Amino acid sequence: MTRTVYVNGDFIDEADATVSIFDRGFLFADGIYEVVAIMDSKLIDFPGHMSRLRRSLREINIPEPMSEDELLGVIREIVSSNSLDEGLVYMEITRGAADRDFVFSADLKPTVVMFSQIKPLVENQASRDGVKLKSVLDLRWARRDIKSVGLLAQVLAKQAAKSAGAYEALMIKDGHVTEGGSSSAYIIKDGVVVTHPLNNDILPGITRACLLDLVAANEISLDERAFTLEEAYAADEAFITAASTYVCPVVAIDDRPVGSGTVGPIVRRMQQLYLENARATAV
Ligand code: PDD
Repeated sequence: MTRTVYVNGDFIDEADATVSIFDRGFLFADGIYEVVAIMDSKLIDFPGHMSRLRRSLREINIPEPMSEDELLGVIREIVSSNSLDEGLVYMEITRGAADRDFVFSADLKPTVVMFSQIKPLVENQASRDGVKLKSVLDLRWARRDIKSVGLLAQVLAKQAAKSAGAYEALMIKDGHVTEGGSSSAYIIKDGVVVTHPLNNDILPGITRACLLDLVAANEISLDERAFTLEEAYAADEAFITAASTYVCPVVAIDDRPVGSGTVGPIVRRMQQLYLENARATAV
């Protein structure tokens, strides 16, 4: 099945979609991206993804190529022209195309690309049975708060995890967990949810923001601090979140069982809380 994708103003067949070899996204990874989940053909956590997209653009001085309403219109068209019921919409904005030079002029026209991916996000083996993580050194650059398309460190980390039979990498900096390869990471100890605080060491996850609101609203204790890999091994429960996994239970880290080695009750509850809220706020 071929998809209809969006490239710089046009909705076209994926086989006909091209960008220049001089695109700075290709030459320098000079661009940013977003991934939005689709449930029942509706967008999940859309306002959060839009504000992070705009922040990422601002942080690297790429002008906003279109308004939020226009962007929403393009996403909706991608969802409907591909009859997407459940999955992801990927959008990438680069600084644009110009002859290769590290420095850039302010008048470049940003490149905008969007496409959809079918993926079962609610009912799947990972969210049902939980997943294994593998710890990997966090070798990323110092501005992990920007959703940059420069993802080589994550490509290698996630490939190393997969080779070890794990679903996701657990990124380790100075003995502490920053986050997952492409997800936010959490442990639960004695009823307290622990996750890395927001700073330049992690991406501010939109699923994380929504989940932490639900944690507060349901009077679950929260401690936003860096935790060590040793603490993760000794946790009662653990989980990761992302637009591409929602709330996903973690049952082993580096082949050591987390808690009982099965999905725990607090993670199950948070899965339910998140899905209920996502459905209720989808647009
Ligand atoms: N990744 N941390 C990193 C490094 C990520 O790449 C992601 C998302 C997250 C979770 O953010 P959110 O909840 O907003 O999806 C945390 C996307 C899904 C990806 O790269 O495919």
